Amino acid sequence: MLENVFLPNYEGKELSDQTFSWSVPSNIALVKYWGKRAVQIPENASVSFTLSNCKTITSLHYNSNKLTDSKFSFDIFVDDVWNKSFRAKIESFFEKAVPFLPFLTDGHFEIRTANTFPHSSGIASSASGMAALALCLMSCEKTCCPDLSEELFFKKASFLARLGSGSACRSIEGPLVAWGKHKDIPGSSDLFGTTLKASVCETFTNYQDTILIVEEGQKQVSSTLGHNLMHGHPFAQKRFEQAEHNVSDLLKVMIQGDMDQFIRIVESEALSLHAMMMTSNPAYVLMQPHTLSIIKAIWDFRKTTEVPLCFTLDAGANVHLLYPYEFKNEVLNFIEAELVVYCQNGRYICDATGVGAQQLKV
Ligand code: DP6
Repeated sequence: MLENVFLPNYEGKELSDQTFSWSVPSNIALVKYWGKRAVQIPENASVSFTLSNCKTITSLHYNSNKLTDSKFSFDIFVDDVWNKSFRAKIESFFEKAVPFLPFLTDGHFEIRTANTFPHSSGIASSASGMAALALCLMSCEKTCCPDLSEELFFKKASFLARLGSGSACRSIEGPLVAWGKHKDIPGSSDLFGTTLKASVCETFTNYQDTILIVEEGQKQVSSTLGHNLMHGHPFAQKRFEQAEHNVSDLLKVMIQGDMDQFIRIVESEALSLHAMMMTSNPAYVLMQPHTLSIIKAIWDFRKTTEVPLCFTLDAGANVHLLYPYEFKNEVLNFIEAELVVYCQNGRYICDATGVGAQQLKV
């Protein structure tokens, strides 16, 4: 599918003043996206679980009168407070999205956004935030093209979300989404996320993700900078090949319900991601000593109890504990007994896989 299908076809129609609101969850990658080329095209396919509790709730009010003379007229409020720090990111998103949403230059957009997880938790909100904004904009577009099919609505929302932040394109639907063209995933594309319909083993239904907050606050190196450091990285090509193989293998083992192989692939992906950071030029380390202590404790726990608990990491020090629902009590007891000491202010967040975005009444 080419990006032409996302070009608008509602010439002459104008948007009226309106408000839309969407609630969109974050996602956690099992096979990681790390490395991209212009414009927001991933170097390898990735696969993620869509979460359900860590969400961004965004409402967008469109007013047909622009409030400024600049190309894009908008205001952002985070937790009801006018915000300046996200302006550059939204501006750059609008710039990439405007060929597909020409009404972006027509009026004024008031964006109000809030996360269900604490701002300081170190959990990235760009995936859920960009996906929520993309869906609000799609709701605006839909008023001009009422015949837009549901399928195209969500595909274009994912396409637009990707332009804002790559991983955001995997937050629209759930519980298992792939992004990036891959030989084993029919319909997969570099342009938008594809919900995996293959019947994965029941064990992966309602899979738990408990996020241990090792480090609160902003990470020192943004993902965007990290992706850029993959250009000219000595191991880049091997890493992209590894991820392509891991997508194939992961899908197989999730259909078979092979927990040992699932754990092997997921943990290897997390460690490979951080290995890329540590071997970048300049090199950097986002793991903290407590991250490693948690990993070591998980390995010991798994060996002694045979509970299929594994970890993954995103671009930060926090650790995501992934496990089937039936082991929830056992794992939470283990966290309380052995891991909570490694969490900043004893904080962790319990989440689980979910089905994706929801439109809210305004
Ligand atoms: C480590 O999607 O945040 O979480 O496209 O520059 O916004 P941009 O990057 P982003 O990168 C996510 C990186 C990751 C892995 C993943 O989610 O696949």
